[in-house]
Order: sequence, then C-alpha cells, then structure tokens
Amino acid sequence: MSVRIPFAGLVFLPLLTGCSSQQSAFHPTGHDAERINILFWVMTAGGAAIFVLVLVLAAIAIFGPDRLRQRLAGESLINWLGIGFPVVVLTALLVYGFVLLQAGAPVNAGNTSLRIAVSGEQWWWRVTYRTADGREVEAANEIHLPVGQPVTLELTTADVIHSFWAPSIAGKLDMIPGRTNQMTVTATSPGITRGQCAEYCGGAHAFMAFHVVAQAPEAFEAWLDRESTAASPPQNASQERGENLFLASGCGGCHTVRGTGADGKIGPDLTHVGGRHSLAAATLPNSAEAFADFIVNNQHIKPENRMPPYGVFSEEQLDDLAAYLEGLR
Ligand code: CUA
Repeated sequence: MSVRIPFAGLVFLPLLTGCSSQQSAFHPTGHDAERINILFWVMTAGGAAIFVLVLVLAAIAIFGPDRLRQRLAGESLINWLGIGFPVVVLTALLVYGFVLLQAGAPVNAGNTSLRIAVSGEQWWWRVTYRTADGREVEAANEIHLPVGQPVTLELTTADVIHSFWAPSIAGKLDMIPGRTNQMTVTATSPGITRGQCAEYCGGAHAFMAFHVVAQAPEAFEAWLDRESTAASPPQNASQERGENLFLASGCGGCHTVRGTGADGKIGPDLTHVGGRHSLAAATLPNSAEAFADFIVNNQHIKPENRMPPYGVFSEEQLDDLAAYLEGLR
C-alpha cells in the first residue's frame, strides 16, 4: 500500500497539467504573483537538485567502491555537506526570498489613485471603487483592475474571517473583523482570472469566489464610467414586468438597483449584475436560467446564505424576473 500511494500520485500528476490556468499561481498576471512564481521555481529547482545529490550520495554509500565509501564516512565530509552546506544554502535562500518579495517594504504603496474596498461577507464580496476624484461605485463579486497601475485594496469583513486570494495577481491576505488590511496590487496583463476565499468561513466557503478582470486603462475607465451610472431601464414588456415584480416582491429590501426604489444594503448591489462574468460569487454562469435558478433554489446552491428561497413565483414570473436582472448591464 505504501508503495502504491506515491505511484498513484505520479500517475495522476500529468492530469494536473489539465487544470485551468484561470485560477493559478503558475500563470501570474500581477507583479506580486510573478515574484511568488519565481520564488516557487527557484525553491523547487534547488530542492530537486539537493534531493538528487542526496540520492547519489546514498547510492554511493550503499553500492559504491570501498574507497568512496570510506571518504563518505569521514568526519570532514559530514561537517562540510551536513552542516556547512545547509547553513550557506538556507541563508542564501532566505535572503533571496526576502529581497525578491521585498520583505519589510510597506505593503501599501501609499497614494494610489484608485482604491478598492473589498468586504468579505458570508458568502460573497462587496466591492467599492474609490477614485481620486471622489467617486464611489459599489459592485460585487468582481474586481476590475487597470493594467499597469498600482491599486490599493482595502480588505475588511462584515462578519467572520475571510481571506482574499487572487492567485494570478498576488498572495493571500486575511480579512479580519475590526481591521482594514491593505495591499497594493498591479495587474501586468489583461485578462479574466479567478480568485477564491482562502479561509474557511462557514458552510458555503467553497462557493465564495470572484473574478478579477484586468483591463487596459482606457477600457477600465470606460467600464467604471458605465458602472457608476444608474441601471438601464427595461427594454421590453417582459423586463418591465420583471422590474415591477422585483420592486413589489421586496427584493429591494436587501438589494440596491440604482435608479429604482430598490436601495437595500444587505445583499449584493444588482445595478449592473447582468454585465458581470458570473452570478452568486462565481458559483453560477451569468444567464437568465441561472438567475431563475438562484431565486428559487438559492438555499440548495449556496446553503444558509441570507437570501430566502422564493418558490412563490410562476414560471412566467420567473422568466420576467430573470429577463429583467439579465438586462441590468
Ligand atoms: Cu469567506 Cu471562506
């Protein structure tokens, strides 16, 4: 059995290469993640080289000619390879790691023109963009970043400890009650990657994910301009019925849709929910079917989330609600 387990590991290892690069520290698209990736490969290569050296020495000690075996057993070799070598190598790696990851440097670069407040909530992310000109735009479950510009993330929590981890962008940082933890991140190339809560925070912890959308600065500005506008009005009769139903059913008690009477603060802001890359904190795709599904089955999809399941709507009403929400782009 003890032989089979590592063997099985080796068999399955190639399968891991099929893992998506969407949420991977091996495909860095941010400054910090690039440094972490370099450190990982330096450590892995160094560890592999030392492992091979140890195997070779062990093979010589067991099978080698007497002359070599006697040298291996000598005290000087033990002093050099057993004490001197580890001290030098580990000290060098430690210093290298400190320098590479800029240990001791302020985590917050200070006056970045864009600050994004991210609040972890069971089990989603409240995301508020604060620009240098005083704009404040609330959204959810998606972090948009202008490529090449340092952005300060202000990490807080509304309830328990969460941990913000976008592995393609940077390392993880906990969100701790009563504290604001800051980190400055810089996206280095455009694209959509995925992040995940990295601290167990209750039953639906695994369903607390998000997307990072890194955009060219002009595209980011255009997106933020659009995001700061009120919701687009219904475009057809179905969406209009959906809006009326949304407002009449009390959805606005928890959700905000700017430009309508819905101004609840408990759940995610839905003003532009139809334009996001996922629903329910990267748990569902963004589609009319997923909206309808979540309204009815949300306690099955994300158990114990704060939204009650709404089984009261007819098929037609659900279609109208879904059409309305999907149209909020
Ligand atoms: Cu939030 Cu785990």
